[in-house]
Amino acid sequence: MTSTSRISGFRNLSIDERRERAVSAAGLEPHRLDVLSPDRGLSLDQADHMVENVIGVLGVPVGLATNFVVDGRDVLVPMATEEPSVVAAASNLARMTRDHGGFVTSSTAPLMQAQVQVVDVVDPEGARMRLLAAASELIELANAQDPALVAFGGGVRDISVRVIPSSRQTYVVLHLIVDVRDAMGANAVNTMAEAIAPRVAEIAGGRTLLRILTNKADLRITRVSAVFDRELLGGAEVVENMVDAAEFAVVDPYRAATHNKGIMNGITAVVLATGNDTRAVEAGAHSHAIGLDGRYTSMSRFEKDADGHLVGTLELPMPVGLVGGATKVHPVAQANVALLGAATADELAAVILAVGLAQNAAAVRALATEGIQRGHMSLHARNVAVSAGAAKEEVDAVVSRMIEAKAVRAEYAEQVLAEMRAPSGGVR
Ligand code: MEV
Repeated sequence: MTSTSRISGFRNLSIDERRERAVSAAGLEPHRLDVLSPDRGLSLDQADHMVENVIGVLGVPVGLATNFVVDGRDVLVPMATEEPSVVAAASNLARMTRDHGGFVTSSTAPLMQAQVQVVDVVDPEGARMRLLAAASELIELANAQDPALVAFGGGVRDISVRVIPSSRQTYVVLHLIVDVRDAMGANAVNTMAEAIAPRVAEIAGGRTLLRILTNKADLRITRVSAVFDRELLGGAEVVENMVDAAEFAVVDPYRAATHNKGIMNGITAVVLATGNDTRAVEAGAHSHAIGLDGRYTSMSRFEKDADGHLVGTLELPMPVGLVGGATKVHPVAQANVALLGAATADELAAVILAVGLAQNAAAVRALATEGIQRGHMSLHARNVAVSAGAAKEEVDAVVSRMIEAKAVRAEYAEQVLAEMRAPSGGVR
C-alpha cells in the first residue's frame, strides 16, 4: 500500500533517488525497481520467447506519475511513453483533485465477449431461437474448456444471438459472454468460441466462420469521475473555457479524435507499462466513443459543480489483466504492477481510467489557456539539447537560450553549446 503519492520535488531528484522514494512510498523491497534499468530489463532470451524473429528490444522511458488518489488509495503510476510532458501533466492535474477526494471509480463485472459467426443459415430467426434454447448446453460446453477460470469464480455468464443482414447474406452471430476475472481474457474466450463452434453450426443449421473475441468490450466498463479545483485550475474563467473546449469535442468528430488522443496518451502509457495489450484497449475505447446519433464523439464530459469546480467524467471499456500475457513474463511490467499495488484487474482498470481523465483535463486546460506549445516546446527543447550533445549541467542553459531565441533546433543548440564551451566562457 502506497503511503503517499504526493512526493514534492520528485522531478528534481536523480533517477536513483526517485526509485528509492518510490519503493519506500510503495512499501516494496529496496531493489524491486532495478529491472527498470535497460541492462537489467527484458533480456534477449526472454524477448525471443515472446515473439517471432527477435532481433532486439526497444526501450521506452518509464516515468512515474505522482499525486494520484484513486478510490481513496494513494497510488504512484508508472507510465511508459515517448511523449514529453505527458507524465508531468497527469501528475499536475491529479494534484488538483486531491482536496476533493481524488478519483472515484466503479466497474462492471469483467465480462468479455466472443463472437461465433454462422453463415449459410436458411432460417436465421429460427436459428436464433434454437441457439437461445440450447444456452445451457452451450454454456456447459464452453465452461468445460477452462475449469481453472470457473474455479476462480469466472466462466460463461450468458449467451446472446444476433441476426445481422449484410450485402452478401444474413449472418447469425452468437455472443459468448464470459467473466474472465483478472485476465484480459482473449485466450479464454477464443478457446471457448472455437470449442463450441461445431455444435453452434449444428444447432443453427449452417456453417461457422469466424470465432473470435470482440474488442468492443462494452460489457466490461470502468467509470471515473473527479473534481478539479477551480482555483488551482486558474479560476472561474479557466473553468468556463475548459467546459467549452471539452464541449467542442462532444459535438465535432474532428476535435473529438484529438481530444480522445489526449485521453489515450495517459491510458496507453499505463497499459503499456503494465504489459497489457494497448491495441485492444484502444480499439475498445474508440468503438465506445459513438454517441446515440451514431457519430464519433468525445470519450469524456466536463461540467461545473455548484461551487464552480470542474467535474470530469470518463467511461470506457477496459480489457486489461494481471494474469497471463506479457504482464506475467515481462520483468519491467511485473515491477510496474508491484509499484501500482493493484491486486485485481479491476483496480488496475480504475487507475488507468483515472490517468486518462487527468491527462485529458491537463490537455484541455493547456489548450483553453496558453496553448500547449509553450510547455511542449520546453520539453522538446530538452530533447534537442541532449541530442545536440549537451551534458547534464549544460541542458538548462541551452534550453533557455533556444526558447529565448525561438529557435528550438539542433543546429542552434550546437551553436549555443560551442559558444558556451568557448574559452571566453559563453559570451553571446
Ligand atoms: C497531444 O499529444 C494531445 C493533445 O492534442 C490532446 C488534445 O488536443 O486535447 C494536446
